[in-house]
Parts: sequence; structure tokens; C-alpha cells
Amino acid sequence: MERTFVMIKPDGVKRRLVGEIIRRFEDRGFNIVAMKMLTPSLELAEQHYAIHRDKPFYEGLVSFITSGPVVPMVLEAPDAVRLVRNMIGALNPADTLPGTIRGDFTVDTQQNLIHGADAPETAEMEIALWFPELK
Ligand code: PPS
Repeated sequence: MERTFVMIKPDGVKRRLVGEIIRRFEDRGFNIVAMKMLTPSLELAEQHYAIHRDKPFYEGLVSFITSGPVVPMVLEAPDAVRLVRNMIGALNPADTLPGTIRGDFTVDTQQNLIHGADAPETAEMEIALWFPELK
């Protein structure tokens, strides 16, 4: 079993896609290990996206992610990190396949509904950041 970190972004909550997104993960066979809803503080958002702080989109991304409630969760399955990334779909809307979460519900690079950790090590860091109580 592998754990991964997933977060439904403010656009997913505003568009009432929380249930739809969770249903896809449950139907696929993931266990939900932890889940909550909160509006991230600036500090939490900056820590989460620290690796991107020199990118041109960084400030807009932090401002977007702190704009309203998000739903972070810890999911568990064999190969969870890669499975989740495949189910989320590509970042570039032109490359995102139908059947993926982004491919079915968004054409936007920033308002792209959901974040999934990109590697098992990143997942563990993000789980520790968002769910310190799980330690
Ligand atoms: S990069 O440039 O390859 O490091 O980008 P990537 O790792 O794929 O994406 C990092 C996060 O930044 C978001 N992103 C953007 N937001 C707004 N505008 C633009 N142009 C943009 N490009 C990337 C992307 O959605 C990633 O956020 P998360 O939360 O990880 O999905």
C-alpha cells in the first residue's frame, strides 16, 4: 500500500465537485485515510508551493489557493501516487485526456480543480504539512 496527498482546490469546492471527485477515487478502490476542509493560511500555502516560488505563476497560485476552502486528503492504494496523477490528468489543458478529472471538468491551467503529489517522497512531505496530527 502507498499513501498519497490530494487536495481539491477552491474552484472544485465552489463548483460543487467535491462529491464527484471523491466518488471517482472511492469507485477506483482508494481508501480515504484522512480528509478535512479549510481555507489555507498564507503561510501554509507558501510552504506547500515553496518549490515554485521563483515561477511567474507563483503569486497567482498562492492567492488562488488561499481564496476559499479546499479539501485536502490522504488516499491509500497500491501505487497511489501514479494512479492519482493519471486520474487527475495533465496540466496543459490541450494535453488533458477526457475521462480524467481535469479532462472532464476544466480547460484552465490555474483553476484546475485538484492537486496530487508528484512522487512518494513529496506525498509524505505534503501529508506531514497538511495533516501534522497523523504523525
Ligand atoms: S512546473 O512549471 O513544471 O514546475 O509546473 P508544475 O509542477 O506542473 O505545476 C506546479 C503547480 O503550479 C500550477 N501551475 C500553474 N498555475 C497557474 N498558471 C500557470 N501557468 C501554471 N503552471 C503550473 C500547477 O497547477 C501546479 O499546481 P498543483 O497544485 O501542484 O496542481
